[in-house]
Amino acid sequence: MTRRTVLVTGASRGIGAETARVLGAEGAHVFVNYREKAKRADQVVGEIAAAGGSATAVRADLTDRAAVNAMVRDIRASHGHLDAVVLNASGGMERAAAPGYALALNRDAQTGTLDAALPLMTAPGRVVFVTSHQAHFHGTGETRETYAQYEAVAHSKRAGEDALRARIPGLSARGVDLVVVSGDMIEGTITVTLLDRARPGTLDARRARAGTLPTVGEFAAAVANAVSAPFETGHTVYVGGTDYLAGSAKR
Ligand SMILES: NC(=O)c1ccc[n+]([C@@H]2O[C@H](COP(=O)([O-])OP(=O)(O)OC[C@H]3O[C@@H](n4cnc5c(N)ncnc54)[C@H](OP(=O)(O)O)[C@@H]3O)[C@@H](O)[C@H]2O)c1
Repeated sequence: MTRRTVLVTGASRGIGAETARVLGAEGAHVFVNYREKAKRADQVVGEIAAAGGSATAVRADLTDRAAVNAMVRDIRASHGHLDAVVLNASGGMERAAAPGYALALNRDAQTGTLDAALPLMTAPGRVVFVTSHQAHFHGTGETRETYAQYEAVAHSKRAGEDALRARIPGLSARGVDLVVVSGDMIEGTITVTLLDRARPGTLDARRARAGTLPTVGEFAAAVANAVSAPFETGHTVYVGGTDYLAGSAKR
């Protein structure tokens, strides 16, 4: 049997890396995308191989269209096709980020990566967009904590989700589904550590309100599951944060 092939963007650390490990353990060939941390990406590839799986590190800053096209060319040359793409890479809180970077990465690079990868995708295909509750529920007018440091990220990731959802008719015509996985703050991630450092008490306040927060392992398991679970296109998987969900009709 040929292995399923999956591209996971931003898989050199955190949730993307763990998702890649889970998919590798399930028997997929995983393309571990990273922006610049080659050593970390190689380590993820090595861990997948050591566990009996198969993976390749593929470098591309997703905001660089030429780099994305080159990455997709390499994937085509080595494996010919993709069964799934996990759009996990995200950013915008970096201190040196240029104005507009959050939108460039979290919206434009998501659709750009999809456009580049789509010709390699075979039906039935699956695109999984990874987001946060703060982004998914952004602009719904409900009372939520969106922290000033995260505002541009939340806005741009919601814009990215909307742009991807707008592609559903075209994707369906090609036999490709879109599933969104949205998570509460995830324990132990660098983003949450940075938020808590910038605004001390953030994490404790969230824990007090939400109870137990999901771990990286739990969130990554949900993301990996969304790659092949029989969800209808447009479905959203929620991980943690039941207070966000109460009474909300937002998809
Ligand atoms: N952290 C949370 O609490 C939380 C909660 C809910 C949802 N999420 C979502 O889960 C996803 C992963 O979050 P995380 O906390 O694991 O992220 P993270 O630790 O900040 O990792 C980001 C990953 O994205 C890559 N990346 C950043 N900019 C890139 C670019 N321009 N091109 C290509 N790759 C790029 C990084 O690669 P390099 O290492 O090479 O720079 C790294 O592998 C995000 O979509 C996030 O919104 C996170």
